[in-house]
Amino acid sequence: MTAILRAAGLSRAFGSFEALRGIDLEVCKGQRLGIVGESGSGKTTLIKLLAALDQPTAGQLWFAGREITGLPERGLGFLRSSLQIVFQDPRSSLNPRMKVGDIVTEPLRSKLVRRELQGVDRKERLREVLAAVDLPADSGDRYPHEFSGGQRQRIAIARALAPKPEVLIADEPVSALDVSVRAQVINLLADLVDKQGLTLLFVSHDLMVVRHLCDSVVVMQSGQIVERGTTAAVFSAPRTDYTASLWAAVPRIKV
Ligand SMILES: Nc1ncnc2c1ncn2[C@@H]1O[C@H](COP(=O)(O)OP(=O)(O)O)[C@@H](O)[C@H]1O
Ligand SMILES: [Mg+2]
Repeated sequence: MTAILRAAGLSRAFGSFEALRGIDLEVCKGQRLGIVGESGSGKTTLIKLLAALDQPTAGQLWFAGREITGLPERGLGFLRSSLQIVFQDPRSSLNPRMKVGDIVTEPLRSKLVRRELQGVDRKERLREVLAAVDLPADSGDRYPHEFSGGQRQRIAIARALAPKPEVLIADEPVSALDVSVRAQVINLLADLVDKQGLTLLFVSHDLMVVRHLCDSVVVMQSGQIVERGTTAAVFSAPRTDYTASLWAAVPRIKV
């Protein structure tokens, strides 16, 4: 299988604090990788590097076979269209002053992305992605505050899908939501990943959800990957006490 994302010796320090240390990682097309670990273990730091939203202090990164380490923004057009992120809290990730239609199609307006996605009709794409996330067709004319938390996360997912990405990264996408709507959003994600054949990187501290969504998993602790393997293997026979303790501490939600 072809690696779509590859990291070698990836590190990120903030001053003298090493938030990420020597991460080696390969993600293949169509893979669904869970990234788990306690709070502060470096999950968000890692995905920001993988998405080229931050620069590593050491190590190298490749996307679709091209090295992206240290590339200036103008060299990242192919990545900006093919890799999208859904963040944890839709209240802070959606601009309250923008209409939903403009939020969702924002990735399509960037010059870099337009060069990669010639011929995509913005209105048509807005209709398609709103339907894909089960939001009413007229949602585009409304503002984020008119929607519930779960619906706002659907808006964020619609925005991520707009440029037809190959890779979707979701960073604890339901932890800011009411427990009652979490399963719906998770099931929607699972459905979209299936239908669109997306490569998924799913960050979570809920191992039940990771087991439901992902085929493989890496376990992070203090900025390092301490365990990795198929989801089935890691969860049925954790090799470290740390992984076993994460599994034991799971707050269960039904999916
Ligand atoms: N911009 C930053 N400046 C300083 N420290 C940071 C910064 N971003 C993250 N960290 C630290 O790096 C560690 C890992 O953070 P993070 O990747 O957000 O963890 P996680 O997502 O697993 O909860 C934490 O100790 C956090 O405080
Ligand atoms: Mg985080």
